[in-house]
Amino acid sequence: MSTESAHIDSYLFEPVALGPLQLPNRIVMAPLTRSRAKEADVPSELAIEYYAQRATAGLIIAEATQISPQGKGYVFTPGIYDDAQVQAWKLITDAVHAKGGHIYLQLWHVGRISHPSLQPGNALPVAPSAIKPEGQAYTDEGFVPLVTPRALETSEMPGIVDQYRLAAHNAKAAGFDGVEIHAANGYLLDQFLRDRTNQRTDQYGGSIENRARLLLEVADAVTEVWGGEHVGVRISPLSSFGDIADSDPEPLFTYVVKQLNARKLVYLHVIEGDTGGTRDVEGGFDLQVLRQAFDGLFMANNGYDRELAQKTLKAKRADLIAFGRPFISNPDLVERLRVGAALNEPDQSTMYGGGAEGYTDYPTLDEDAMR
Ligand code: PHB
Repeated sequence: MSTESAHIDSYLFEPVALGPLQLPNRIVMAPLTRSRAKEADVPSELAIEYYAQRATAGLIIAEATQISPQGKGYVFTPGIYDDAQVQAWKLITDAVHAKGGHIYLQLWHVGRISHPSLQPGNALPVAPSAIKPEGQAYTDEGFVPLVTPRALETSEMPGIVDQYRLAAHNAKAAGFDGVEIHAANGYLLDQFLRDRTNQRTDQYGGSIENRARLLLEVADAVTEVWGGEHVGVRISPLSSFGDIADSDPEPLFTYVVKQLNARKLVYLHVIEGDTGGTRDVEGGFDLQVLRQAFDGLFMANNGYDRELAQKTLKAKRADLIAFGRPFISNPDLVERLRVGAALNEPDQSTMYGGGAEGYTDYPTLDEDAMR
């Protein structure tokens, strides 16, 4: 190995404090929907092995997990709103901790990205405004068109915050090290932030301050449970994922990040560009302005490979790098990044749903060598 690459290597493997946690490296497993939960939104036993296999990550952020039955938008995604789910998650967090790992849970309410067949009493999904998203829902009957959601009443808003509070308590009971508030990718909190999906005229719509109100109330409720040193937030300011858009994202997200900063959250997780797509969105802005507005750790995500990760850390453009797809197919991604080994490619056909195949059976480097 050349001196240059050995030197670059040290950036990904420099330890870092995440609140009270000491992370051995800066490699984060991004939250990844794998759609393998059982009846009643209970995570499967297979998830114990899946997450334990990936415990060498500096931090695992477990998959997006609905905070309530209403927050569900896809079949087979797990929940964190009842005791059976808490007990199942506890087995997972114990297994990760037994291997010396750290694990957060991502708290998720999908808002309008759902379908009556996934909702309690076949109700309409809820949203800031009754505006139908383009796209399809993944239901028991396969892919079906999304529907026009029902606009939440102002009087329902405290109940939404309560859903997050309960989920935050449950995540604690389940043994997580912290939680990530999912405010990205066109789901409920993002729907409130953006002026295309939020056309409300009450105190939750209109001005930037009003559109940010729900996220900040949720951040307050969750940090009350956990303390800010155990709470991160994920945003995707330039993404159109989930048929989302805003007329002027820079002032919106600058305000949001300043307000989150005042709550002393431990990290800001930013999807750079279009989720799972280009990093260079036309008409975007330099997301480093958000890093400058935030005193906690800056976690960068979207299309990173080893080289870009090292360059980004070296230039101090991020403190942590979250890898998504590479963690699906490389349980030992950390070791592979350390030695510069080739990566397995994920199999799209086993990404969502099913069992062990394409979930817990991707080989490590040692297993590759034995083939
Ligand atoms: C998905 O289930 O496809 C999904 C979930 C959460 C995201 C993005 C995609 O943030």
